Amino acid sequence: MATMAEGTASGQEVRLETERLLLRPWQVSEAAVQRELWLERDPRVPPHRRIGAGGRPTIADIEEWIRASRPSTTGLLAVQRKDAGDVIGYCGLVDSDAPDDGPELAYELLRRVWGQGYATEAAQAVLDWAKASGFERLCATVWDWNVASRRVLAKLGFVETERTVEARGTNLRTSRPL
Ligand SMILES: CC(C)(COP(=O)(O)OP(=O)(O)OC[C@H]1O[C@@H](n2cnc3c(N)ncnc32)[C@H](O)[C@@H]1OP(=O)(O)O)[C@@H](O)C(=O)NCCC(=O)NCCS
Repeated sequence: MATMAEGTASGQEVRLETERLLLRPWQVSEAAVQRELWLERDPRVPPHRRIGAGGRPTIADIEEWIRASRPSTTGLLAVQRKDAGDVIGYCGLVDSDAPDDGPELAYELLRRVWGQGYATEAAQAVLDWAKASGFERLCATVWDWNVASRRVLAKLGFVETERTVEARGTNLRTSRPL
């Protein structure tokens, strides 16, 4: 799969391109897409990652996050379909709590586009971006019940390194060299 990464070393905006997708920083006008992702989350996801009783995060909260975020060697990028032009979710890297494992791969897509290979395609571009930025390893954590995400990680070559049993399920830590 061909991927092009631009701007990673030059201080320009990060822009990754695959056959069907463009990955780039979020625009403030796209806050509603992020809120839709929050609304769609599985009830087994911990409460701090779901919309609270007071309706937070609101669109305004998310707009502030977008204004404050400047993806460079890490960051969560908007995933845009090249043909339709719509933003369907995010994929990117977040700092992990174990720096020796490298940053953590993260992705989430709107339910209406699941099952078409988009997460794997977007994540492959993020792997190339991480490598071009000089990282030597990536990690990812996933709940045991999250079969789709586990399959994406397996397709990308991540292997399980640790499991932690928690009240909501077993949390699997995975990793792979770049
Ligand atoms: C995880 C997620 C991003 C996957 O997106 P996607 O674009 O559908 O992923 P892909 O199409 O690239 O790959 C999904 C794979 O899982 C498989 N899969 C999906 N649901 C499955 C199920 N219930 N049982 C078995 N396999 C399943 C698909 O068949 C596919 O594998 P294949 O290519 O071998 O057929 C999407 O489900 C999502 O946004 N989930 C909520 C957020 C999330 O869980 N993020 C990750 C946190 S660790």
